[in-house]
Amino acid sequence: MKLLVREMKEKDIPLISKIYSECFPIDCTSKKDYLTWIKCNYQAKPRFVYYIAELNKELIGYILWIELGGFRKEAVIELEQIGVSEKMRGKGIGTILIKKSLDLFVKDYIRPRKIELIKLTTSNRNQAQNLYRKVLGAEPECVMKGIFGGDELIMFTRKYK
Ligand SMILES: CC(C)(COP(=O)(O)OP(=O)(O)OC[C@H]1O[C@@H](n2cnc3c(N)ncnc32)[C@H](O)[C@@H]1OP(=O)(O)O)[C@@H](O)C(=O)NCCC(=O)NCCS
Repeated sequence: MKLLVREMKEKDIPLISKIYSECFPIDCTSKKDYLTWIKCNYQAKPRFVYYIAELNKELIGYILWIELGGFRKEAVIELEQIGVSEKMRGKGIGTILIKKSLDLFVKDYIRPRKIELIKLTTSNRNQAQNLYRKVLGAEPECVMKGIFGGDELIMFTRKYK
């Protein structure tokens, strides 16, 4: 499997927005809104940085890392969103995407600063919490009730490297 993880480029916006709409079908109400969402996040670099996974040059997943509370000496970052195209799930792509993109994000945007904390949120019914626990050692610490049509779990990785 020849999987490449790299920072997104402007030309990737339409394909990312397609996978975004596939992964999160109720987040926006039109194709145009999905595109606009990705476009404005892309423009918020270096606070928001997307990475993509390409398999044989086909874009099959994306991840968005963001920095919280300023560009702090002890950085607080959030894995804001991850999506892998449906037909490619369960093959370890999400795991590789998190690990490699975080290495790139740290190398290109965080260093020489250190990461104090990684925040992750997901619906408490979403199996992504297993992924976050397994790959980042994240643990749930609180629940936001009644948001996005359910309850949202907030997880933290308090010991990163
Ligand atoms: C969450 C998501 C990115 C995982 O991507 P993936 O490529 O399937 O992940 P992996 O194959 O690397 O799975 C890694 C681990 O995650 C967990 N996991 C992922 N999907 C799971 C599922 N459907 N059921 C149970 N565990 C699951 C498992 O612990 C798995 O480890 P294992 O294979 O050793 O059991 C993908 O399912 C997805 O895009 N979902 C829709 C969007 C979404 O919900 N994103 C997360 C919220 S932002």
